[in-house]
Amino acid sequence: MIKIYCADDYKGMSRKAAEIVASEVTLKPDCVLGLPTGSTPVGMYQQLIEWNKAGDLDFSEVKTCNLDEYVGLDPTHDQSYRYFMQSNLFDHINIKPEHTHVPEGNAADPDAACKRYDDIIRDLGGIDLQVVGIGRNGHVGFNEPSTSFPADTHVVDLTEDTIDANSRLFASRDEVPKRAMTMGVRPIMQAKRVLMIVNGENKAAAVKAAFSGPITPEVPASILQLHPCLYIVGTKDAMAQLG
Ligand code: GLP
Repeated sequence: MIKIYCADDYKGMSRKAAEIVASEVTLKPDCVLGLPTGSTPVGMYQQLIEWNKAGDLDFSEVKTCNLDEYVGLDPTHDQSYRYFMQSNLFDHINIKPEHTHVPEGNAADPDAACKRYDDIIRDLGGIDLQVVGIGRNGHVGFNEPSTSFPADTHVVDLTEDTIDANSRLFASRDEVPKRAMTMGVRPIMQAKRVLMIVNGENKAAAVKAAFSGPITPEVPASILQLHPCLYIVGTKDAMAQLG
């Protein structure tokens, strides 16, 4: 089942996405949320913070697992995804710090850290609602275009396109890490529900390739066509090329 919601603008996309996350938290207060970073989810997080501050949404029993993290960045680095999650969500809601999980980008042994991350997801019983964005090249998390769909959390070499896209957030392109850790497709595909959020016309071609084309690891998000419960919430310009 794919349910598509087309919003007029970023505000509408953020609100609808926040409503879907809030429904999950309301129906299952101890749910496991899979969460993304990037510019797309910021408005959704702001809305969730607002409802939490108003006393309408309780995160005290919610657990979270983030999709990915740069290799080599300390959690205190302002471009690490742990830092992003603290400043855009966790520091402003009543979630317990020990309930939040982000891959350990600064681990001495990244492969062992990936293995530990899969153990964490498994021990939590898997993900109830996985929220994802999409990269311009169709990546999900940091699953870059490739010849296979890796199942487990793994270390990836970022593509030049992703380094370019993300360099806007760093002082210079040279500072963008060249590697990242990302959940593989298994926990994403095993999540009970997946919510993809997309904003802006620069994502329209990626959305089209992912959902109007073949399922191929060259467009990692295309595997979501096989998910039994997928919601796509996007701005109308992002969805414009969807056939
Ligand atoms: C980043 C993240 C992805 C994110 C994507 C889009 O590289 N690893 O998880 O979905 O790029 O980011 P944005 O929302 O800023 O366009």
